[in-house]
Amino acid sequence: MGMIFFASPVWADAVADGRKIMTEGGGGVIACATCHGVNGEGMAAAGFPYLAGQGATYLAEQLKNFAAGERHNPVMEPIAKAMNPAQIEAVSIYLSQLPKPYDALALTNMVETYPDKSAMGAWVANRGDWDNNIPACIQCHGPGGVGVGASFPALAGLPANYMRQQLIDWKAEKRPAGPLSLMGDIAQRMSDQQISAVADYFGGLPAGAATKAAVTTKSGAR
Ligand code: HEC
Ligand code: HEC
Repeated sequence: MGMIFFASPVWADAVADGRKIMTEGGGGVIACATCHGVNGEGMAAAGFPYLAGQGATYLAEQLKNFAAGERHNPVMEPIAKAMNPAQIEAVSIYLSQLPKPYDALALTNMVETYPDKSAMGAWVANRGDWDNNIPACIQCHGPGGVGVGASFPALAGLPANYMRQQLIDWKAEKRPAGPLSLMGDIAQRMSDQQISAVADYFGGLPAGAATKAAVTTKSGAR
């Protein structure tokens, strides 16, 4: 079953079907809202990532990976396995057009071009670690980690423990490396300390966005 973004009546059907799977479930599939929230905003305290506003292609790919047993999680694997391709496509389209659960503008304005180098998370996120061939995370995930296009998911405000686990899984080759193996290769080169620090940095972003934006403006940094 191919992607159907350009046929608008079909797209409208997909959105309606997707909303139903999200809020009510169906055909043996649990309602996603139970864990990911009615607006796809996630439940940070429980470690359930937000899905709202992530790219449809990215989301569908993750569901296929869980279903194929290539991305591992004891909760999500059986749920994805119970979904048929049309359900995966519909719910991914629906979720991708829900409003993002963070203030993208405030976060984008918060470009910490030169954070304090002793703040490892902020430094790696915004400057990278070129001695170890690690590009700045914001180069692909956007300033403030708001995500870019359909393939680079947002990171801002994802549960820190969730992000840590993803990076550890990539390092251990337990999560598919993603498009062009970009993310898998980067995680391979990260130290455990860097993984922990960037996960905490992006996990803490939305709450601190307003203050940090003000500080950045005052210091004259771009
Ligand atoms: C019982 C709780 C629960 C339910 C219900 C649930 N999920 Fe999840 N979901 C999780 C957890 C936990 C994770 C994190 C998995 C991991 O650590 O890899 C997750 C992760 C995901 C991801 C990966 C997100 C990312 O950023 O890579 C997608 C996509 C997803 N879920 C979609 C769905 C959909 C669609 C449904 C409904 C059909 C659903 N989930 C129902 C708990 C749940
Ligand atoms: C060259 C581009 C690129 C750079 C630089 C990059 N990423 Fe990624 N990242 C990706 C892609 C592509 C994906 C989607 C992978 C997939 O489809 O499975 C991704 C996904 C992720 C995810 C998964 C999000 C989720 O919802 O599960 C995390 C976490 C992540 N990246 C963290 C980082 C961190 C931390 C850095 C900086 C050290 C970084 N990325 C730098 C391309 C990049």
